[in-house]
Amino acid sequence: MKKILVTGGAGYIGSHTIIDLIESGHQVVSVDNFINSNAQSYDRITEITGQTIQQYAIDLCDRQKLEQVFRENDFSSVIHFAALKSVGDSVSDPLHYYHNNLLGLINLLYLQKQYQVHHLIFSSSCSVYGNAESLPVTERTPLKEAESPYAQTKQVCEQIIFDFLKVNPTFKSVILRYFNPAGAHSSNLMGESPHNIANNLVPIITETAMGKRDALSVFGSDYPTRDGTCVRDYIHIMDLAAAHTGSVQFLLDNKARDAGTIINLGSGTGSTVLEVIHAFEKVSGNKLNYSLTNRRPGDVVAVYADYTKANKLIGWTPQRNLDDIMLSAWRWEQKRSAT
Ligand code: UD1
Repeated sequence: MKKILVTGGAGYIGSHTIIDLIESGHQVVSVDNFINSNAQSYDRITEITGQTIQQYAIDLCDRQKLEQVFRENDFSSVIHFAALKSVGDSVSDPLHYYHNNLLGLINLLYLQKQYQVHHLIFSSSCSVYGNAESLPVTERTPLKEAESPYAQTKQVCEQIIFDFLKVNPTFKSVILRYFNPAGAHSSNLMGESPHNIANNLVPIITETAMGKRDALSVFGSDYPTRDGTCVRDYIHIMDLAAAHTGSVQFLLDNKARDAGTIINLGSGTGSTVLEVIHAFEKVSGNKLNYSLTNRRPGDVVAVYADYTKANKLIGWTPQRNLDDIMLSAWRWEQKRSAT
């Protein structure tokens, strides 16, 4: 059986996806440089699935080393997660973001072409929509100016893939635009474990409740939304993982009509920052220490998904809601803090 190459397989979304792929009968090879993850993820995957992961500690920017992975394995597809993803860091260090996120993809595409690996699933982001003119966003909603270098890297990567597909007609790609992934695996053996300091809302909430941080700053309370805080679409990590397996199968079964298929992955529900905090307080029974502060540079006001296309093409529907996300994230925070 041909294998699936997962880049960033030790990371948050990558590791949950590997579990889903293995449980669906696929054979996986992971490449990760552990810049925002660590090798313990592989142990957890083994604990959950009973399988040892074939893996390489390699930076995708090093094409020579990456070639070794293609030389030693026969791949049907690549799922490309490995990238930097902090909006704030990308504003302060744009070159690092452009270098890492663009070069990683370009090196992969060169090698996919050289070794004739025809399928690519790419991790994009709803940030490509910028401040969208209508909500919920569908895949046809026009892209607005990127609000951060991070978002810009995702727009450019999508363009690189489409340009590549135009001149390589035997290749197909699914571009997955994630909304806000959060929550933990149902086994409570795995969840979001930021290696560096967390900068996404849900882990910051759980770390604050755990006493790892004094307080949570709510970035901006004067936005034109129902309570003045930003609206986002939080999607459970296990639902997101399942969509990757569905997307690979969609390509493997030759169901893709277009060379490049864009798919939104969100729950379809927009929640404000305060609503997320209140959902956490409800499911955990804890009061959260937070204060309303200034807006964060690079934030869009509101974005949530229309996932009709995901449902139509890959038969995907989110199975879990915001309460499930917050409860699983809280159980995982308690678990990882105790070990
Ligand atoms: C952004 C992208 C998302 C991408 C993610 C990667 C958009 C719309 N979304 O998510 O596609 O996957 O980056 O990191 O660009 N917040 C606080 N206090 C905090 C932290 C966050 O109030 O301490 C607020 C933010 O202002 C935002 C919401 O919580 O309104 C979610 O923030 P975050 O978890 O960082 O994700 P996004 O920036 O939405």
